Amino acid sequence: MSEHEQAAGGRSSHAVPGCATIRCRQDGPLVVELPEGIRLRVIDPLGAEFRLPDGKPAVALCRCGASGSKPFCDGSHRASGFRDASAAPRQG
Ligand code: FES
Repeated sequence: MSEHEQAAGGRSSHAVPGCATIRCRQDGPLVVELPEGIRLRVIDPLGAEFRLPDGKPAVALCRCGASGSKPFCDGSHRASGFRDASAAPRQG
């Protein structure tokens, strides 16, 4: 475990080379952070691909259900009062 992870109580808050990260924002979206050279595809139930912004290193996915542009977060979680403070179990 890195020094940074130890400081975060065993949790990693920094990017890991070659690894996409899904960051669970407290009371907010799932933010998918992509390392350079890694693409993300978001597919609907019928197999069609959502258009993603070009060149953005991160995409925020709604998990509150209130977004008007699902599956993406549009900030509506703030007005909806969505609350979630889920935390991953600490590794011993
Ligand atoms: S998480 Fe942001 S609108 Fe749902």
